[in-house]
Order: sequence, then structure tokens, then C-alpha cells
Amino acid sequence: MEFASLLHLPANHLCAWRPKGEIQGFVLCRQALDEAEILTICVAPSARGKGLGRKLIERAHHDLAKNGIARLFLEVSTANMPARRLYDQAGYSEIGRRKAYYRDGNDALVLEKTLIERGQD
Ligand SMILES: CC(C)(COP(=O)(O)OP(=O)(O)OC[C@H]1O[C@@H](n2cnc3c(N)ncnc32)[C@H](O)[C@@H]1OP(=O)(O)O)[C@@H](O)C(=O)NCCC(=O)NCCS
Repeated sequence: MEFASLLHLPANHLCAWRPKGEIQGFVLCRQALDEAEILTICVAPSARGKGLGRKLIERAHHDLAKNGIARLFLEVSTANMPARRLYDQAGYSEIGRRKAYYRDGNDALVLEKTLIERGQD
């Protein structure tokens, strides 16, 4: 999917980074009650590998926790090493695997992160 077209996915939380008015990266999430799903996180190809993905995901965690989101979920391809590294460092845990989920035959890992511990809110 094209970078710009991702912005049109149905979502209700968008965290974008636009240093000079131009979007360099964004996180799209869908919230439901006190849970949310990261639909995608994307950094412009020319801006990758400079820590922007990490900043964006941390910002999204902060905003979502402020909105009362306790748990966050996402799916990532086993083959997507940059994204897996990002989520690993951001404290996500693997809670499931969908076999041959993607068209290229790769499995999807289902990851979860707790933003607000039970009893804390
Ligand atoms: C995944 C993505 C958002 C990461 O954004 P980024 O700004 O490049 O990430 P960062 O620079 O913050 O790096 C985060 C971690 O990922 C690692 N990483 C980044 N690019 C990598 C690569 N090509 N291979 C392996 N690890 C990589 C970094 O080394 C860093 O870990 P480190 O601090 O231990 O070095 C970006 O690669 C992207 O937009 N990919 C295409 C869209 C996508 O696949 N989104 C995920 C859908 S589930």
C-alpha cells in the first residue's frame, strides 16, 4: 500500500510527525472501549533508521494511555524485521500467531502491550 493512501484507513487515532508541514511518519490506531489496535505505523522511506519510528510509537502510547487505553494490540509479519525490532524494543509481547496470514505466506505475530496496569486507573 502507498504511504499516503494508508492515511485513509478507517481509524480514530492518528499520531503524525510533520517537521516541515510534510508528513514523515504516522501511527494509525483504532480504539474500542479501553483497548486499541495499531493498524499501522509507517515512516517515509527516506526518514527510516533515525529513531522516528520509536518516537512515534512512544508518542502514541502516551496519547492512548491519556485516553484511558489500557491494552494495545497489533499484527506484524514474521518477515518484517525492522517492525519486529521496533515493537520488541517498545515492550510488546507475543500473544499469538496466525499461520500463513499474509499473501506471501508469512505468519502474523499478534503482539500486545499493556499501557495501564489493572488497578492503576
Ligand atoms: C517499521 C518502521 C516504522 C520503523 O521505523 P524507523 O523510523 O526506521 O525505526 P527506528 O529508526 O525508530 O528504529 C527502531 C528499531 O528498529 C531497528 N531497525 C530499523 N530499520 C531496520 C532494518 N532495516 N533492519 C533491522 N532493524 C531495523 C532499528 O535498528 C531500531 O533498533 P535499535 O535501536 O536496536 O537499533 C519503518 O521501517 C517502516 O515504516 N516500515 C514500513 C511500514 C511497516 O512495515 N510498518 C509496520 C507494519 S506492522
